[in-house]
Amino acid sequence: MTDSIPRLGFGTWARTGADGVAAILYALETGYRHLDTAQSYGTEQSVGEAMRQSGLRRDEIFVTTKIKVDNLGPGKLLPSLRQSCDTIGVDQVDLTLIHWPAPHGRIEPEVYLEQLAEAREAARTRMIGVSNFTIALLEKAEAILGKRAVATNQIELNPLFQNRKLADHCNKRGILVTCYQPVAQGRMGDIEQMRLVAERHEATVEQVALAYELSKGYAAIPTSSKPERIRSNWQAHMLSLTAADIETIDALPQSLRAIDPAGAPLWD
Ligand SMILES: NC(=O)c1ccc[n+]([C@@H]2O[C@H](COP(=O)([O-])OP(=O)(O)OC[C@H]3O[C@@H](n4cnc5c(N)ncnc54)[C@H](OP(=O)(O)O)[C@@H]3O)[C@@H](O)[C@H]2O)c1
Repeated sequence: MTDSIPRLGFGTWARTGADGVAAILYALETGYRHLDTAQSYGTEQSVGEAMRQSGLRRDEIFVTTKIKVDNLGPGKLLPSLRQSCDTIGVDQVDLTLIHWPAPHGRIEPEVYLEQLAEAREAARTRMIGVSNFTIALLEKAEAILGKRAVATNQIELNPLFQNRKLADHCNKRGILVTCYQPVAQGRMGDIEQMRLVAERHEATVEQVALAYELSKGYAAIPTSSKPERIRSNWQAHMLSLTAADIETIDALPQSLRAIDPAGAPLWD
């Protein structure tokens, strides 16, 4: 596995139990080589089980996990990541993210970001990054960890919520944008411009969304419980949009953010 993050990954939220293992295994058989899990999803075990059943070598699969808010306090992060590695059944993960900044700034970013760097030094994770970080928090992270230390910021982003200000900042700072909700949970079927682009390419609107995100240089981690969708989402990496398609999608009216829990940071 090189140091780059595979751009089209498989999200694992809700992929629990035997059905979850089957979906993740199907994703690996289809060609996905990046699995996105989190301590709070209850899918670390399914990820490990599917990896073992796949027969792929450990170094053929890129595994991301995320540290939950309960494990951000002093002395908690590294033991929790060791537990995540044990649950998955690996010595180290490829990428560890802070899932959410501490709600209401109750824990200073130094406390958990320094522990994240220690986890990398302890070889429990090859790379480190963040999720749901704002521009102000990314600037703090860079000051604490150094330039280029934050490999990615995983954020909500799809054609209906392009999160442009934050994505532009990440691009400028050399931080890979990883899009969550990249197929807008299947909500794009009624958007005429998306349907027209999809028809022109004999593709689905979800494939168009993923191709759009990849064309911007972002990573995307769609999930599905259904084999035909797991496969068709994967095939999006072969779809090339034209500059006109991209302009059309750039100009779509934007909807509200879908994921905005209590305690979320002050968004940009
Ligand atoms: N860092 C964070 O805070 C954060 C937040 C949210 C998500 N995530 C990560 O990002 C991943 C993806 O986000 P997400 O699961 O919220 O959203 P998503 O991937 O945009 O949407 C998944 C949903 O859309 C449906 N779907 C998938 N492909 C489809 C297709 N081709 N056509 C129609 N419907 C389709 C799936 O239903 P079916 O199962 O019925 O196909 C599923 O309910 C998660 O699994 C998780 O790993 C991270």
